[in-house]
Amino acid sequence: MAVSTTTAPGDQLHGNNGNHVMGVVSNNKISQNSYPSGGGSRNFVLRRRSLEISAAVFLGIAVCCLVLYRSLYSSAGGLLFPGYLFSISRGSSSLQAAANRPEITSPVPESSDPELMRVLKNATRTTGGPMSSLPSRTVILTTLNSAWAEPGSILDLFLESFRAGNGTHDLVDNLVIISLDQKAHQRCQAIHPHCYALTTPGVNFTGEAYFMTSEYLLMMWRRIDFLASILRLGYDFVFTDADIMWFRNPFPHFHKDADFQIACDQYTGHRGGGSSTDRRNRPNGGFTFVRSNVRTLQFYRFWYHARHSFPGMHDQDVLNKIKFDPFLDAIGLKVRFLDTAYFGGFCEPARNLNWACTMHANCCVGLGHKIHDLNVVLGDWKHYMSLPADSRGSASLTWRAPQRCRYVSGVDFRSCSEFCLFF
Ligand SMILES: *[C@@H]1O[C@H](CO)[C@@H](O)[C@H](O)[C@H]1NC(C)=O
Ligand SMILES: *[C@@H]1O[C@H](CO)[C@@H](O)[C@H](O)[C@H]1NC(C)=O
Ligand SMILES: *[C@@H]1O[C@H](CO)[C@@H](O)[C@H](O)[C@H]1NC(C)=O
Repeated sequence: MAVSTTTAPGDQLHGNNGNHVMGVVSNNKISQNSYPSGGGSRNFVLRRRSLEISAAVFLGIAVCCLVLYRSLYSSAGGLLFPGYLFSISRGSSSLQAAANRPEITSPVPESSDPELMRVLKNATRTTGGPMSSLPSRTVILTTLNSAWAEPGSILDLFLESFRAGNGTHDLVDNLVIISLDQKAHQRCQAIHPHCYALTTPGVNFTGEAYFMTSEYLLMMWRRIDFLASILRLGYDFVFTDADIMWFRNPFPHFHKDADFQIACDQYTGHRGGGSSTDRRNRPNGGFTFVRSNVRTLQFYRFWYHARHSFPGMHDQDVLNKIKFDPFLDAIGLKVRFLDTAYFGGFCEPARNLNWACTMHANCCVGLGHKIHDLNVVLGDWKHYMSLPADSRGSASLTWRAPQRCRYVSGVDFRSCSEFCLFF
């Protein structure tokens, strides 16, 4: 991770999945926040509320303090669990450990797991039909850990957004929740018809030890491997982090001709020059629509194997590396980046509620902050829906969030490692 104060305006810093230990600068005070924040918002960007130089200095110190947490950061890549706070003291050299770890190999490939096939079949039995908003063999997938599954936590907000949204109510029938631990699976089964428990070899699925280990990176990549198996089974999927509120059906806004479409933290189209095909877009792996075909199968295999070339990195960081790779063009993969005007988040909020399809609590550090601000977003949406049609059209209708979710521009936590080690 390196402190970079020369970052271009708007090129804010993110970490992946918001699942890392971060220093947060607020009003020139540095606090170390280390909240679990689930398998979701891949990025956080700290907002620099004031651009004073002193803030930058404090920030530099804060960033460098993070070195202490570096190994945790590296291994916690995507999934934050409550117990990971306690793993700080034990997490030393997890980067090394991750590099030395054996391959992830499922004892039984998911694509031949009858339970998965049953769940997918049931969750898609209406798709493509006259009553469904989804094309046939299309499934919505999200992953869940126990912190996010708690009552009043992210899962409840996620499901509530489908109920509050316009035309999203029925989409939960096509939603499969992939639980990453036993507690999450139990909660899913209590409130949702389509649940699947994803186990990871080498990670104790049941025990507390699960949270105490530094296996998070393994889990991140496990998810990519799992999504590849969904493609192999011939299903198209929308993968959504659970900290994304669904307010409108996204399908009318997807590109018709794309193989792989992905949401962005920042969309270059809003800074001039960019477009949905511009690879300089900053993708956020928390929301993707992927069609199952020979190109996407090759691409997921390529992505999954690319982790060897970038040890210690999680899937989104590696995606940012490989998105320019000529291999993508060689296989003819059609990649599209989704406009934040429709698929926004706290990194770059969609300013007009008339357009918003989804709202992601990305660029957010801390589960408590995330829950708070998502409640604000849900409140804004419900207020919007209650307005008469003629006042809904007003362009002044915007979100009151982020409030507690924050980011600071100018510091790249992901490239901090070298610099900070020697600061
Ligand atoms: C199939 O899904 C429906 C809800 O869509 C649920 O009520 C039912 O229990 C599911 N059946 C099986 C066998 O999972
Ligand atoms: C997983 O953890 C639980 C509780 O800590 C323990 O009882 C169980 O034996 C462990 N399973 C394996 C396979 O290590
Ligand atoms: C909900 O969607 C319908 C159909 O697209 C539209 O007519 C209606 O105005 C929408 N309501 C709101 C609150 O956006």
